[in-house]
Amino acid sequence: MLPQRVKIVEVGARDGLQNETRVLPVETRVELIRLLAEAGLTAIEAGSFVSAKRIPQMAGSGDVLQAALAATADAGAACAYPVLVPNLRGLEAAMQAGATEIAVFAAASETFSRKNINCGIAESIERFAAVAERARAANLRVRGYVSCALGCPYQGEVGPGEVARVAGLLRDLGCHQISLGDTIGVGTPGQARAMVERVAERVPVEHLAAHFHDTYGQALANIHTVLPLGVSVLDSAIAGLGGCPFAAGASGNVATEDVVYMLDGMGIHSGVDMRKLLFAGDYICAKLGRPNQSRAAAALSARSR
Ligand code: HMG
Ligand code: MG
Repeated sequence: MLPQRVKIVEVGARDGLQNETRVLPVETRVELIRLLAEAGLTAIEAGSFVSAKRIPQMAGSGDVLQAALAATADAGAACAYPVLVPNLRGLEAAMQAGATEIAVFAAASETFSRKNINCGIAESIERFAAVAERARAANLRVRGYVSCALGCPYQGEVGPGEVARVAGLLRDLGCHQISLGDTIGVGTPGQARAMVERVAERVPVEHLAAHFHDTYGQALANIHTVLPLGVSVLDSAIAGLGGCPFAAGASGNVATEDVVYMLDGMGIHSGVDMRKLLFAGDYICAKLGRPNQSRAAAALSARSR
């Protein structure tokens, strides 16, 4: 059965901007987040507390988070700003900036894990266990990612059993939600279904989110396939921004505008205002000097001209 409501986790200000050659200043990132919150998004990833040498685009995430929290408090809106945290050092910095929700990020591929976070899967789970314990003791919510859930840029095929195993480990360390990431956007609907079904045997589906990149144009089809399985949390990025610098060839996340257009058409409530979303997309595309990759945004903008 299809869900009546879907929660969108907007990842454009993190997953999106981390992959851009143009590094945007804190003020621009804060304004993007403000516009996204104004459009009705209630979960907006604000940044990453990782090495600025490795991801210079996310430097200043503490300032971004602080300003976003302040802007929301002024507006009285209820918006969560999860931030990526790789280790205790990152957690410390995130907490200093006022984080109330963090995301730890593991992978179902050993090689990708090493390239991305400089340690293998087992060691990453140990690191994340310490992070999660400290975070939860401070009343922070912890989200978990499993990258390479439908394929790895280094190892190729990834079995659903391994995705389920890593998702289960993240759940065991207290993650309230596990986001299953097709980091390189290679998966097709049959694979997406098999993967989610397998993971759901280990982690109840109400704790799962889908995070599809759109490299091969499969993201909406994959979403449409996993919705009836009970997945009701979807990650997407404004204007289809996104990618991971350690996953060569991966393109953007599924565009938030495309997801909202599809959900609206299916009568599924997301709480997002398309007109305001288009405004946020125009804003960030102008700042990045690139066209909006959302097909729905392009069509709707052309219609209103
Ligand atoms: P490490 O183990 O220290 O190893 O860091 P390293 O050699 O990669 O570290 C480089 C430098 O980072 C060192 O400094 C550390 O001290 C420092 P140096 O000695 O060179 O001056 N460092 C830190 N700096 C700031 N904050 C910290 C921190 N920790 C160490 N918290 C680490 C491991 C994970 C931090 C590092 O490898 C790193 O920053 N990696 C980048 C990971 C990343 O952000 N990847 C992209 C996000 S994941 C993604 O996009 C996928 C996702 O969207 C889901 C999907 O699509 O599937 C989530
Ligand atoms: Mg991603």
